[in-house]
Amino acid sequence: MHRTLARLSKKHGPILFLEFGSRPVLVVSSPSAVEECFTKNDIIFANRPRILAGKHLGYDYSTLVWAPYGDHWRNLRRMASLEILSSNRIQKYAGIRMDEVRSLILRLYKITSKNGDDQFHVVEMKSLFFELILNVIMRMIAGKRYYGEKEGELEEERKFKEVVTETLELSGVRNNVDYIPALKWVGVNKVEKKQAILQRRRDELIQNLIEERKKSISNSSSEERNRTIIDVLLALQENNPEYYTNVMIRGMVQVLITAGTETSAATMEWALTLLLNNPKTLVKAQEEIDMVVGTNRLMDETDIDKLPYLGGIINETFRMCPITPLLIPHESSEECTVGGFRIPRGTMLLVNIWAMHNDPALWEDPTIFKPERFVGPKTENNNGLILPFGAGRRKCPGERMAMRSIPLVLGCLIQCFEWERIGEEMVDMSEGKGLTMPKAKPLVAKCRPRSAMMNLLSQI
Ligand code: HEM
Repeated sequence: MHRTLARLSKKHGPILFLEFGSRPVLVVSSPSAVEECFTKNDIIFANRPRILAGKHLGYDYSTLVWAPYGDHWRNLRRMASLEILSSNRIQKYAGIRMDEVRSLILRLYKITSKNGDDQFHVVEMKSLFFELILNVIMRMIAGKRYYGEKEGELEEERKFKEVVTETLELSGVRNNVDYIPALKWVGVNKVEKKQAILQRRRDELIQNLIEERKKSISNSSSEERNRTIIDVLLALQENNPEYYTNVMIRGMVQVLITAGTETSAATMEWALTLLLNNPKTLVKAQEEIDMVVGTNRLMDETDIDKLPYLGGIINETFRMCPITPLLIPHESSEECTVGGFRIPRGTMLLVNIWAMHNDPALWEDPTIFKPERFVGPKTENNNGLILPFGAGRRKCPGERMAMRSIPLVLGCLIQCFEWERIGEEMVDMSEGKGLTMPKAKPLVAKCRPRSAMMNLLSQI
């Protein structure tokens, strides 16, 4: 949809007013129009549209992602920013992230060195990225990780993976009944049925997680009790059970798992894909890490700010492959103007960041992967405006966490291994469907340990 809307914008201009069935829709795709929406009109557009995904997958529009702008959303947002995703808490969980990265590296090292040769081995990266991020989030939320060794663990991990993927597929803005409600009465609405079934599965999984955590903290010390995000939410519930209901806690946990896993994992997958298709950038990134970190220790989060080229790779990935190309839809709560046009109350806003990030009027050679654009001073044709996390009041509250995990994982993989495509041809860049823009085909790559890192790898 972001590509179709970009084509329309190219023909008719960066501010489009469309009608999707009975729903008025504003599509913006220029920096000035976006700025107008998120500065002058920020409060007006801080609402979310009441689409069926919000009803069935957002506990009747009551979760952080789907709640309308108002006191309840403000309170959830404050709770997320201060108690859950604050810089303090994110810092507190740095050890978990490092631990999981070590596990991934060890896993790859075992796969690639099992025959004692120095040949390349083929690895499927999509699941490895997802499992890593799921483990990070699960350890933060519930103090639990999936080793895939214990009976039932693989099964639970598979279920979480399935519900996250399905949630993002069923949360998109392409459900016809959201625009032509009458379809509901003629029995065309299969999506709504699927959403309701999915919600029952998600609910059960999350409630089990909460019950497990309750059991494990009932006999533990007070220090242990404040360890995970579920503990924090349960403590709030103890003080104010009427407001912090079980539904609210389940909603918050669901939002964190859905919004925090696939987004980061898919960005890592796109980044590695772009590096494999542009091997010279991979070499440059490796040289930078060797110079700053060396080969005697593993890169860690304190190195991130000293690695501008790695930062450029991540920004360039966000530019070319923003994982939420239309952000999450917003809605106007009153009439306003954008670019001089009157926008009625109740208009759905789609911000086509993909179109903006790939616009030849804003970027030199937008189809070329050039991490250098984000290194050093900004130039006229490189105005640096990328909005992968959105803007304004509803901007992503997980940005800090994502910007710790993604460079760490990618940096360590580049530091420890050599990477190649599985064949001569470029890795396929087709996009899948849903609220996010995943890679259509899971990334398969060839890798082997770098000889300069063998010593360190053998000690992990
Ligand atoms: C690469 C990683 C990520 C990207 C690109 C991303 C992007 C976004 C975007 C574009 C939005 C919508 C902004 C808007 O409505 O205009 C959003 C919302 C949100 N994100 Fe993220 N996100 C990422 C990671 C995370 C993580 C790690 C978490 C938490 C663990 C998270 C939690 C949320 C939540 C709760 C919202 C809803 C905020 C609201 O409606 O008030 N995200 N994200």
